[in-house]
Amino acid sequence: MNIKSKNTITVGVIGLGYVGLPLAMLFIKNKILTYGFDIDQNKIDNLKEGKSYIGHISSNDINSIDDNYFKPTIDFSKISLCDVMIICVPTPLNANREPDLSFVTSTLDSIKPYLRDGQTISLESTTYPGTTRDVIVKNIENEGFEVGKNFYIVYSPEREDPGNKNFDVSTIPKIVSGHTKNCLNKAISIYSRIIHNIVPVSSTESAEMAKLLENIYRSINIGLANEMKILANTMDIDIFEVINAAATKPFGFNAFYPGPGIGGHCIPIDPFYLTWKAREYGVNTKFIELAGEFNNEMPKYVVKRLVHGLNLNKKCINGSKILILGLAYKKNIDDQRESPSINIMELIKNQGGYVEYSDPHIPKFKEMRNFDFKLSSECLTSKSIAKYDAVILCTDHDNFDYDLIIDNAKLLIDTRGTYSTGKYKNKKLNNLIKSWL
Ligand SMILES: NC(=O)c1ccc[n+]([C@@H]2O[C@H](COP(=O)([O-])OP(=O)(O)OC[C@H]3O[C@@H](n4cnc5c(N)ncnc54)[C@H](O)[C@@H]3O)[C@@H](O)[C@H]2O)c1
Repeated sequence: MNIKSKNTITVGVIGLGYVGLPLAMLFIKNKILTYGFDIDQNKIDNLKEGKSYIGHISSNDINSIDDNYFKPTIDFSKISLCDVMIICVPTPLNANREPDLSFVTSTLDSIKPYLRDGQTISLESTTYPGTTRDVIVKNIENEGFEVGKNFYIVYSPEREDPGNKNFDVSTIPKIVSGHTKNCLNKAISIYSRIIHNIVPVSSTESAEMAKLLENIYRSINIGLANEMKILANTMDIDIFEVINAAATKPFGFNAFYPGPGIGGHCIPIDPFYLTWKAREYGVNTKFIELAGEFNNEMPKYVVKRLVHGLNLNKKCINGSKILILGLAYKKNIDDQRESPSINIMELIKNQGGYVEYSDPHIPKFKEMRNFDFKLSSECLTSKSIAKYDAVILCTDHDNFDYDLIIDNAKLLIDTRGTYSTGKYKNKKLNNLIKSWL
């Protein structure tokens, strides 16, 4: 069926991960023909077979996609059929904790042979200010295009919050920017087809920095909450009660909570894109570095609490069996990237402990660049919980049975304050070591 009419556009979403797949689905929902490009053949096969590979998107959702509008492929020659290419590939840090734009540049290499007049590239990957101008625009100009005249370049950061049921891509306001005025107009025209609230800014650098500011704001506030937790522990004050009391102030205060550390593709990584760029300008971004340092130390703090708890039971880490509850970096999702649970597991293993995990969202440990535990999620029963010397609650998934856990754990380290609130608040729980004690 030929569904293209004069006013429609054909979109290519490049990188069908946590950001790209929901975005592609939104274009399709709006009856916009969408090619989905990825280098991972498995993902393409799954999509063609109607299977999801992302926890909060069901296979039912994939199955019900109208294939007249969705063309998942690894064939980059189809780029020539697209009016807009939206790049949603990873932007990690390299081994020296510097920006690694290799996924973006290899995307450009794959699409260059198929570019033509009139197309638009929109970069959505998070990155430092200047990337769109220095990397995307330069590359495209080297191909002989005149940006703003016969080719358009846009930066529009993604604000996906996987698992958050209060928002979806269409209802989250979208910052858009263009390399020239014409590029910005293209951005507005493309995104206003699928998103209610478009927020234009005057330069791609502003849009790039706005995204980083959002994540740095979170990192710094989580760092502060973690520092407050350690102080409150030492003073024998319940930090969760403190935060919840402060949060009743109807203005000027947003609640952030302490935890076992930070994870995911954003908060542990993005701030360092800016600190790296700031160095080029001779600026030392102290707040950002300090928050990162603090947050990165939290897994060690949790293991210190574990040592303390085992000690009370006349045990040591070496030879003990420890169960980690929750591998995902935050509740109710299946994303284990940069998860502090994994740092905690590694620290325990390095000290001779036997570590296993239970996470209803991650049935098998997914092999990572620096870690591979070859473990599957343990099923939680009264018997299975009781066989561990200690249980560490790292991720407070809704579908854990918290009574079963507290009733059967020999020793429970709670890094999330779950047993500090609600029905557990005033109960004496003898096996509980709050990680903020
Ligand atoms: N995950 C989030 O919640 C989130 C939120 C906002 C912004 N971001 C940003 O969005 C970007 C993507 O993040 P993500 O979480 O979707 O990553 P992801 O790893 O889930 O997905 C990236 C996809 O890109 C594919 N890919 C890699 N190289 C490719 C190439 N050369 N050509 C085609 N496909 C390629 C991978 O196979 C993968 O499927 C990052 O810059 C991230 O910082 C992520």
